[in-house]
Amino acid sequence: METVYLNGQFVSRDNAWISPDDRGFLFGDSVYEVVRCYGGFFFDMEGHMTRLRRSLAETRITWNEIDTFPDVAGELITKNSFNDGCSLVYLQVTRGAAPRTHAFPDPPVPPTVYAFARRQSLDTLIWERGISIEPVTDPRWSRCDIKSTALLANILAYQTAHDNGFAEVCFIRDGFVTEGAHSNIFFVRNETLYTHPESNIILSGITRKNVISLAADNNIALVEEAVPADMISYMHESFLTNTSGEVVPVIKIGDIVIGEGVPGTLTKKVQRLFREKVEAMALQQAQGPA
Ligand code: PDD
Repeated sequence: METVYLNGQFVSRDNAWISPDDRGFLFGDSVYEVVRCYGGFFFDMEGHMTRLRRSLAETRITWNEIDTFPDVAGELITKNSFNDGCSLVYLQVTRGAAPRTHAFPDPPVPPTVYAFARRQSLDTLIWERGISIEPVTDPRWSRCDIKSTALLANILAYQTAHDNGFAEVCFIRDGFVTEGAHSNIFFVRNETLYTHPESNIILSGITRKNVISLAADNNIALVEEAVPADMISYMHESFLTNTSGEVVPVIKIGDIVIGEGVPGTLTKKVQRLFREKVEAMALQQAQGPA
């Protein structure tokens, strides 16, 4: 039986009910996080907590028990017996249930807080083979920095890419590559990594941030600069980053073959460094405080 978390309680999924007046349901008036668990260890929980706090502040959603999330996530892993292998914990916080009107509920209502854990192993095959992604004009709003559940634009673009045989979207806004439908995008040219700077038109990915710090620690040149779409064909390598896939090589964007059409050397190095970091952190966690 699957155990989920809803509004302060651990319940079986069959007993998890929310109101049809929930603003997450009616308006997408809610934010979320996805955290990866390796064995019993959460990767960069601190980074996810910082981003969650920011999403809540930007949307003016109040969840007073936010500090309980790491324990809730840990309990979900234990209660569902996911202590071995890889899994993800999803958390969503909505503005709560109230009669439908655009204004915030007045007086405020408690947020709806829902979390579940799911087994999700790492797709090592796509790490080796790489993927093709489809360039699409970015139709999203200008607050992509908020991890909002209002993802219709991402979903429609992703489905179209999927229907066309691509594994992800490459959003292009005003002539520059921004990010994917659920990932950040990096390019390599002349041994230098390029990725869109943090701004309101991308989500600041936790994996992206960790890749940036890995690059700094390992003397890999990196520039946080948007790549013009018409420069894609001049790029030597490309890869995506996100919580579910880690570092995924991109070998084709639309009709353009990237580099030799196989995962690039620097991409593989970043992939390896990321893996090593995860493994080192998992070991440290297993050994406990020194
Ligand atoms: N998506 N950009 C967008 C639009 C995303 O939705 C995501 C993550 C990322 C990468 O962020 P991170 O490295 O923190 O996972 C970038 C998650 C995985 C999802 O929606 O399932």
